[in-house]
Amino acid sequence: MTSRSRKEAGGYYTPERIAATLVRWVVRDETDRLLDPSCGDGRFICRHRTSIGVEREAAAASAARERAPRALVHEGDFFAWAASTGERFECAAGNPPFIRYQTFRGEVRARAMRLCASLGAVFSGLASSWAPFLVAAAGLLKPGGRLAFVVPAEIGHATYAAPLLDYLSARFDVVHIVAVREKLFPELSEDCWLLYAEGFGGSTSELRLSALDRFEPSPRPPRQAACIAVNEWREVWNRRLRPYLLPEAVRQSYRTVAAHPESTRFGGVASIGIGYVSGANRFFHLRPSEADAWQIPSAFLHPTVRNSRALPPRQLTRRSIARWRRSDDPMMLLRLGKLAELPASVRRYLNTEEGRLARESFKCRTRNPWYSVPDVRVPDFFLTYMSGVAPSLVRNLAAATCTNTVHGVRLRDRSAARRIVTAWHTPFVRLSCEIEGHPLGGGVLKLEPGEATRIVFPPPGLPAALPNRKVEAALRTMRAWRHCDDSR
Ligand SMILES: C[S@@+](CC[C@H](N)C(=O)[O-])C[C@H]1O[C@@H](n2cnc3c(N)ncnc32)[C@H](O)[C@@H]1O
Repeated sequence: MTSRSRKEAGGYYTPERIAATLVRWVVRDETDRLLDPSCGDGRFICRHRTSIGVEREAAAASAARERAPRALVHEGDFFAWAASTGERFECAAGNPPFIRYQTFRGEVRARAMRLCASLGAVFSGLASSWAPFLVAAAGLLKPGGRLAFVVPAEIGHATYAAPLLDYLSARFDVVHIVAVREKLFPELSEDCWLLYAEGFGGSTSELRLSALDRFEPSPRPPRQAACIAVNEWREVWNRRLRPYLLPEAVRQSYRTVAAHPESTRFGGVASIGIGYVSGANRFFHLRPSEADAWQIPSAFLHPTVRNSRALPPRQLTRRSIARWRRSDDPMMLLRLGKLAELPASVRRYLNTEEGRLARESFKCRTRNPWYSVPDVRVPDFFLTYMSGVAPSLVRNLAAATCTNTVHGVRLRDRSAARRIVTAWHTPFVRLSCEIEGHPLGGGVLKLEPGEATRIVFPPPGLPAALPNRKVEAALRTMRAWRHCDDSR
């Protein structure tokens, strides 16, 4: 497989020692029947004689037959097979394909969603393939059955993982997630964790979470585990497991500070959203020399932040803009609004070959008029949403606008500006960014607008409840989990 088609099929095979560990735990008796719903080249099913594998790719299915001659391998879509089979299993194990929602489409997705809904799990349009795979595999277990799977670490924060954890806690006696910090798949940017569930047909009001620095083969999941009340996970932590990677004392203090009447969440004082999408940045962003050459009136040009790299660390001032201008950066947005009458010079620019190409881009051809870039706003602050060590909050003193590569923050309560600026660099707010944001791979912390609205600003002095040295240690922990070296 090429690396692209491999990624699209979610085709990364599990290292042998991990497959061996999961099968060893999940199979309890020689007569148990084991299911791998996406068996790849058969490295789970080859470890137990009464196994069934399903695999969509013909070449992988035939490799699986060769590797596991005693197993039965069905070639085709697992969801189609699962919807029609009458077979039931004592256990299921494997590593479901991790195909993101953009590629997990069409009939396979529709079948997956139908099947999961009939089993009681409803996923949003943003669900990646692996979560429905687990629900559908669980639906084929006999009472008392078990699951043991490799899962993306997104299980710890993705919104779409919550219906899966809800489903598992409502259907199994024990649900145990094992977070593993060191990469299980060194060639992938995504981290993977392990999921163990047993006692199908039961239910539990708690989730277990163990945090390991590295994977070690073992006959069972670690004994040491945090017991997470499902209610607390839902109501306090926004249905995320990642905060439970922190020591309980830190978590409780964070919770106390967040609930303090004088604390505020970012969304309480500001609205946070993405910048504009021009549809053709190369065309809509002009260099000063280009604007001069085309004689575009300055009334139609607006300074813009093209990406987070262009941002100074704390304030964007008129001097910063002058610097961009001197370096002839493509820093001016052609801002025409919905004007029907345009100056001749602008019309000439719109009618260039670049203009023709821009007009054909998806965003431009689906808006009217095509040259009117929507959602151009002047925020009070810019907020980086993909950050290395920590997100930057940059005050906009230059009345600039921004593309969707950074977030725009508009204060609802102007008197909050000072408090926010002062608190932004404190360890507590940095920790809050780690808790409310999520890792993206490659050491990056991502803050979606909804996550940014949850960042907690405590009243001055209150984090005394949580001494700085403890917050710093918690920050190091969270950064280590996203592979960020914070000594940079
Ligand atoms: C991450 S690999 C894991 C393979 C194997 N379980 C392992 O861990 O080594 C996922 C496999 O799922 C297969 N797959 C993807 N979509 C599928 C579908 N709808 N039905 C069955 N298999 C599918 C891919 O071809 C790929 O071989």
